[in-house]
Amino acid sequence: MDKLNPICKQVPHILHGGDYNPDQWLHMPEILKEDVRLMKLAGINSASVAIFAWKALEPEEGIYNFEWLDHMMDQLHENGISVVLATPSGARPAWMDAKHPEVLRVSADRVRNLHGERHNHCYTSPYYRRKVREMNTLLAERYGKHPALSLWHISNEYGGECHCERCQEAFREWLHERYDSDIEKLNRAWWTSFWSHRYSTFEEIESPSPRGENSVHGLKLDWMRFVTFQTRSFLENEIAPLKAVTPDIPVVTNLMGTYPGLDPWKLAPSLDAVSWDNYPRWHSDERSTWEMAANIAFVHDLNRSLKKKPFLLMESTPSQVNWMPINKLKRPGMHILASMQAVAHGSDSVQYFQWRKGRGASEKFHGAVVDHCGHENTRVFREVAELGRMLGTLDGVVGTNVPAEAAVIYDWENEWAIRDFQGFHQHRDYENVCKEHYRALWKRGVSADVIDMEQDFSGYRLLAAPMLYMLKPGVAARLRRFVENGGDLVLTYLTGYVNETDLCWLGGFPGDGLREVCGIWNEETDALYPSDSNRVCFGENSLGMDGEYRAFEMCEIIHAEGCETLAAYGEDFYAGMPAVTMNRFGKGRCFYIAARTDGSLPDALYGRILASSPVKPALDTVLPEGVSVTRRCGGEEEYLFLMNFSEATKTVRLPDGFEAADVISGDNVSREITLPVYGVRVLRSGAVTCLA
Ligand code: GLA
Ligand code: ZN
Repeated sequence: MDKLNPICKQVPHILHGGDYNPDQWLHMPEILKEDVRLMKLAGINSASVAIFAWKALEPEEGIYNFEWLDHMMDQLHENGISVVLATPSGARPAWMDAKHPEVLRVSADRVRNLHGERHNHCYTSPYYRRKVREMNTLLAERYGKHPALSLWHISNEYGGECHCERCQEAFREWLHERYDSDIEKLNRAWWTSFWSHRYSTFEEIESPSPRGENSVHGLKLDWMRFVTFQTRSFLENEIAPLKAVTPDIPVVTNLMGTYPGLDPWKLAPSLDAVSWDNYPRWHSDERSTWEMAANIAFVHDLNRSLKKKPFLLMESTPSQVNWMPINKLKRPGMHILASMQAVAHGSDSVQYFQWRKGRGASEKFHGAVVDHCGHENTRVFREVAELGRMLGTLDGVVGTNVPAEAAVIYDWENEWAIRDFQGFHQHRDYENVCKEHYRALWKRGVSADVIDMEQDFSGYRLLAAPMLYMLKPGVAARLRRFVENGGDLVLTYLTGYVNETDLCWLGGFPGDGLREVCGIWNEETDALYPSDSNRVCFGENSLGMDGEYRAFEMCEIIHAEGCETLAAYGEDFYAGMPAVTMNRFGKGRCFYIAARTDGSLPDALYGRILASSPVKPALDTVLPEGVSVTRRCGGEEEYLFLMNFSEATKTVRLPDGFEAADVISGDNVSREITLPVYGVRVLRSGAVTCLA
């Protein structure tokens, strides 16, 4: 695995910084001066500037003011702080909305917004697109050669959708293209004979609405695809003028984890690197610290997988957020651990929202490095500064990648389809089920990519594809090849029901030929009331699984067609029928879990699968509960991250002969490592070899 160039060439360090809003403090120059002193104290090397600064940059239409930004760019540069410069399209000044109301978004019930808030523009509006191009051109021309400029931060957290007339027209054009201007092709794809919904012309089609069409799932899926398409087109409209002037400055936009509204796989190709905003609910009562950590690791891995290279953690809070019902502080140590976790999974940055707490409006109580007290003598500041010192030792990590032999398929279009269909059981929990499978790997120190169903599977040896309800064209065939060639594939209930426009597969589920790969036929899908449950009982089997697990919500009634039954249902009229199966197919194995269970069943299953699989963990040892290990490699370099996501001290036994240096302390390490509560160690080792 090669070492890659840093995302920002001129900053060959882990970026440490975050959202900096000098435009909120222009009337208090002493604060802006103090910021620089404090940034240096905190080991900050990067500031994301101008994210919501449109009004400060263009106070009235056509009247610009860049002086304050000139000054900030110079001041930051003189103090060794690079700038992630934002395009300000995430929020608009009032003059614009008043003079050009077409920029205001229209909701699904066809009501146009009033001025206010943010992230609410029409992404089709020709005026807004032109204004954004002009603004971005001015920024690029003015700062393109400024030595502080390291990265373009495009807009902020793109999201949502607009249903205005212009967007409707654009949607219809997109449909024309997709269906070769053949309305009957569209009618067939959407099954519109249902309820007399056949369209005669494309002009009759409108976006889904609570006041209009909501039952044609094919329409809704295509609308979601269009929303992503149009957002990407808006994004590219932002990027083009920047690339024209500053082709070498990378562009990123801050994505939102598993936010369902936009498919990041379709946005990623337009970006030079991926970045995302991470706001976990640490210390909540909803799950244990390690489960929370594994769930977040899933999203880090997803972001890394989007480009199969290091990403940036663009936002996180140093302490608490302000928008949850209950905004708990990160306990001492958690900020460093959670930040290091991002790096451990492939981030080349730790960035915050926000550098300094504002005085007013809705984010005044959102955590920040600098609190309203204004000085550095706070718990949060000290922890940030300590992290800054630690990150300063990790220059070698920049550009290294995380090798993964396993992958979990978590697919946006599949998510949309699962969310939308009516039937069986309304609680579906796709994301959580994918995370349960992922957690089984995380616990064992097995690195995984998190990919969509369009990615190449051939580089993996283990593939988890829970609830792959939708099979897009060619996916079943690629899964078949994957197994034939020796891969282990884990599927579950709700697999292979529909195609890409939500038309059910005919000929028995799982459809499109997957039935043969699984060696099963799913005849019926039972739904269980909350008070119902079934039992999944492992009998004698060649995998060595045993015990009983609880099934709830959904149980598929499947027939073994050549597979081995590992477990059978224990109750109800389908007692004795297969519940978990394994099919040897070609050189590989295909596993099928036919019912919803909790995470303990996949956990045990992956334990057995890995015991007979070539997939190796990052460290060849049994990890205590809550301890996570990841590996970053590049060129000759190899780093192991050991993290304790538990409320107890943990000891990790290192493999025989293992020798490494602790990068942060400089000490040599062998035999075992003790990790205090929320402790993290980064080891540099030469003892284990990187995967190709
Ligand atoms: C998002 C936004 C930021 C800020 C934070 C608060 O990530 O991008 O501007 O509002 O949330 O957590
Ligand atoms: Zn619109």
